[in-house]
Amino acid sequence: MIKDGKMTDFILQEYRAKTIKSAGMYKQACKVMASGVSNNIRYHPPYPCYFARGKGSRFWDIDGNEYLDFWMGHYCNILGHSPEPIMSALRENMDIGLHCGLVTPHQVELAELICRHIPSAEKVRFCCSGTESTIYALRLARFYTQRNKIIKMEGAWHGAATESTTGNGQDLLKTKPRLLSPQEAQTIVVPFNDVEMIIQAIRKHADDLAAVIVEPIVGKGGFIPANEEYLQTIREETQKVGALLIFDEIISAFRLGLGGAQELFGVLPDITTLGKIIGGGLPIGAIAARADILERCSPTLRKEDRVLIGGGTFSCLPLAMMAGTVLIKHLERNKDQIYPSLERKGDWTRKSIEKAFAAHGIDARCSGIGSLFMTHFPLRQDIELISPNQAYFHCDVQRREVELKIRLLDRGVFVMHGGGAISIAHSWDDLNIFIERMGEVAHEMQACSSKYREVG
Ligand SMILES: Cc1ncc(COP(=O)(O)O)c(C=O)c1O
Repeated sequence: MIKDGKMTDFILQEYRAKTIKSAGMYKQACKVMASGVSNNIRYHPPYPCYFARGKGSRFWDIDGNEYLDFWMGHYCNILGHSPEPIMSALRENMDIGLHCGLVTPHQVELAELICRHIPSAEKVRFCCSGTESTIYALRLARFYTQRNKIIKMEGAWHGAATESTTGNGQDLLKTKPRLLSPQEAQTIVVPFNDVEMIIQAIRKHADDLAAVIVEPIVGKGGFIPANEEYLQTIREETQKVGALLIFDEIISAFRLGLGGAQELFGVLPDITTLGKIIGGGLPIGAIAARADILERCSPTLRKEDRVLIGGGTFSCLPLAMMAGTVLIKHLERNKDQIYPSLERKGDWTRKSIEKAFAAHGIDARCSGIGSLFMTHFPLRQDIELISPNQAYFHCDVQRREVELKIRLLDRGVFVMHGGGAISIAHSWDDLNIFIERMGEVAHEMQACSSKYREVG
């Protein structure tokens, strides 16, 4: 664990030297923005490098440094940065105008594509972000069931809304005694992948349980897949008590295959929340659900029979609808090459990272599935990475978020949480370079920790 300020300073020296313009921009940003950013995840010590442009598997910062990127726009860019099929469609269609606030043919096409591929989707309503889609999904579930309570997984991220962050790992670390908001008070938090606990929670709150919301593959903590019986159990138990099952597939839909995690696991939810990939790189969110559920927001129903879902000045932004449509059609046409290739590359990358660190006597674990991966430095050998909080509380998060991150930035590699999402723009050469850099970092980490042990 990095405890020594001097050691951190040493790691940061090289980064500071190559990012002079970013340092200046950061200083400027701090005068008008909290810590210079609008999204905390985009901050890292000592300051973020400022993006200039991206292409394929790379981006360049304003100092002209090139980075092999695995963050890929919060895992959105499955075709890489600025992919030609989407860029040319946008260029060709720029003249339709920017925002209209009206209905357009593109939104119908995108909704049809979603219903075609996401097995449980019968109808879709678009919004502007994943955060919005989970807010709406919970509201829809409450209205549909006329019940209040929601069950969510400890540490899982469903966006920044109050109830979605209840039970979040970092919040628990910082929690002080305080009053709960009404939404938080109605949110029951259970550990992910614990079959007994979820059965108990569903049965205990049966009478007032509106929904269970779960990511079949939990992004936070390392893209951890639900174990085999877990999702099936939740499906059966929610059905028994008349509660809805919401799958948050904002990361997994169209990433693990066209049908997302629900197709992979063969368990169908009542409502699915979507975002990220389906916008083709432009802002989007959506809820897809059984028709009888989603129809409850229909404007043609009497006011007292419907629930307010959606709205939003920028919902169904025409260019986002078009970009999403072009992207999904591209994935459709090339699915037999794209998904097996992403999976092979993901498997190889996860194994190679662990090997690269093991070769230097460092216990690093790489969790994930398909093209998604995250690196952890467990504090004890017997840690099983089966839930976000396991990964958060029992691993050396600082070592990953500062030391690994900066050492990789110094070598022209950008990761988020020690990993990210492989895109089709990542070649085998890129991955070999990445593992080589990881090996160099492992070597330095080993050398540094023994030097510090000697110093005492
Ligand atoms: C699983 C999951 N749900 C919801 C969200 C929120 O989506 P957005 O950032 O588009 O608001 C995210 C974002 O990272 C996510 O990973």
